[in-house]
Order: sequence, then structure tokens, then C-alpha cells
Amino acid sequence: MVQPRSMFAAAPSPTPESSSGAAAQAIQELQAGLLARPARIDPKYLYDRLGSSLFTAITQLPEYYPTRCEAEILRGHAADIARHVGAVESLIDLGAGDCVKAERLFSSLRPRRYVPIDISADYLRTAVQRLEHAHPGLEIIALGQDFHHALDLPDALPAAGRLFFYPGSSIGNLDPAQALAMLTRIRAACTDGGLLVGIDRVKPRAILEPAYDDALHLTAAFNLNLLRHVNRLLGSDFNVHDWSHVAHYDEPHARMQMHLQALGEVKVEWPGAQRRFGSGERIHTENSYKYTVEGFRDLLARAGYTRVEHWSDSRDWFSVFSARA
Ligand code: TRP
Repeated sequence: MVQPRSMFAAAPSPTPESSSGAAAQAIQELQAGLLARPARIDPKYLYDRLGSSLFTAITQLPEYYPTRCEAEILRGHAADIARHVGAVESLIDLGAGDCVKAERLFSSLRPRRYVPIDISADYLRTAVQRLEHAHPGLEIIALGQDFHHALDLPDALPAAGRLFFYPGSSIGNLDPAQALAMLTRIRAACTDGGLLVGIDRVKPRAILEPAYDDALHLTAAFNLNLLRHVNRLLGSDFNVHDWSHVAHYDEPHARMQMHLQALGEVKVEWPGAQRRFGSGERIHTENSYKYTVEGFRDLLARAGYTRVEHWSDSRDWFSVFSARA
């Protein structure tokens, strides 16, 4: 008998009951954000199928350095990283996407089990099908879930030897208090393991802003695509032509801020409510916090990690931290 090698805890085609519950929750959240002043949309809605593909394209842009810097670090320091990380039973990939980053670690970390987690379950399923062929013998447990509020790991997942992999400076999309809470939650889930996390470093505006506002306007497409995703979820009538992408470095807070800005007066309607936006009014879509090495070390210490090591790329634009419980 053929055993299924991977499973989805949150199935891509959920039962009608759970899907309507999740949909109702999304509607509540989107509506509250759109009616707030200033308005906001949670960045998790950037990653529908097209959004995930657009983000993969962004990572190949000359302006978007983080992905390449991180790959340089993980490749160049693979042996040191493997030594610091220790034996890996389960490699738990937070925001796995196409699973390519974690896959490059398989040869140096030799995990027994790979646990990719991503909110875009659809996208993840395609990636996992590819991995199953490429890595026979590796146990894969794919989870389609939003891990930002709670880590919902299967009871069957052994507690020993967990390595959480949180690459891409995704932790920078949380504000520092949320980042601390997230690091603390991970710390609680890996008593005898650790965390491998990528952070983008504080650097001049002239490098940061083009990374989030590229010449080909792929980042603009990525940000604007959010409105179409929201239209599908909420039944709203956002017209992409009414909005423009704005990326700004807020230096005092060391964060990139992404907004969608109304090009004129805009009225948006959806079942049960509406919102008028004045010309130039913005919807906040994402923060991307940049850290100094000292600042991030301090955050890890406050989250309870004791053995911390880090590696950086040749320009010191990005760092990978290994933090053990
Ligand atoms: N996590 C990515 C980052 O902060 C996401 C991202 C890249 C992004 N470009 C963006 C989010 C533009 C919104 C808009 O680097």
C-alpha cells in the first residue's frame, strides 16, 4: 500500500464549515482595517496565488537585495551554521513559499523531517509535490496556516531537535513588540532546538527605498494586487487604477513603510459598508523593520535565547542569526 508522504493540516479545500468560519473572520478583519483611520490591510493578504508569484519575481530584481544576501550567507557559512545549529530532527519552515530556501539547507543540516508552513496552502501544495520527487526518504508534513498569532504544530511532531527556520527578514514585518512575542513563542516550542532567522540591517535610504519601489514596478504590482485579493474576499469594488504604490523609509523607526495611496477621491463599497478616501489618502499595507546586530541580539536575549551566533554578507546588508534555547 502506498503511504501518503505529505499531509495538509489545514487542507487547501477545507470543509464548508471551517471555510465559512475563516471567510467570516477575514471579512471582519478586512472591514475593521478599511474603516480604521488611517486605513490598513493586513500584509498576509498580499500572498494570494498571483501575489506569491509576484513576490518570487521581486526576489530576482537587482534592487531587491535581501534574498541574494541571505542566500550568500547560508551558502558561504553552511558548515559553521550546521555546527551551531546541531542535530536537526525537524526543520520547521515558517513562511515556506516555494520551499527553495529550506531545500538548500537539506544537504548541510540533514533533517529527518521537513515541516513547511505557509498561509498560501495552494502555493505550498505545488512546492511540496516537487519536493517529494526530489527528496524521497524525507518525511514532509506541510501545514497551510497563519503562524503569526499561534503556532499550531501537530501533536505527533516530536519536541526534540526542532529547528525553526524564519528566513527572508519576514520577522521585520512584525513591529518590535510582536517580533518579541513571536520569538518567545518559538522559544517555548523548541526547548532543545533552536531558531535560524534572517534579518535585514539598517542601511541608507538610497539602498532601501529602491528595494521596495523597483524600476520595473513589480513591487507596485505586488502591492496593488492586494486590492484584487481583498475584492474577492470582501466583495468590495476597489479599482486598481485609482491607487498607487508608495514605499517610504521611516528612519526614526528604522522601518520601510508600504502604502497604497488614492490618486483622487475614491469611494469603495462592499456588502454592508463603504469608505470614502480623499485624494492622497493612504492605506497602510506593510512595515519592514530593519535591525542592527546589537538591536536584534537584545531582542533574542529578551525572548530567552542564550546561545546566539550571527553571520553577515560581504556588505553587511543582511544577517542570519542562529539562536538556541
Ligand atoms: N517580507 C518582505 C520584505 O519586507 C515583503 C515585501 C517585499 C513587501 N517587498 C514588499 C511587502 C512590498 C509589501 C510591499 O522585504
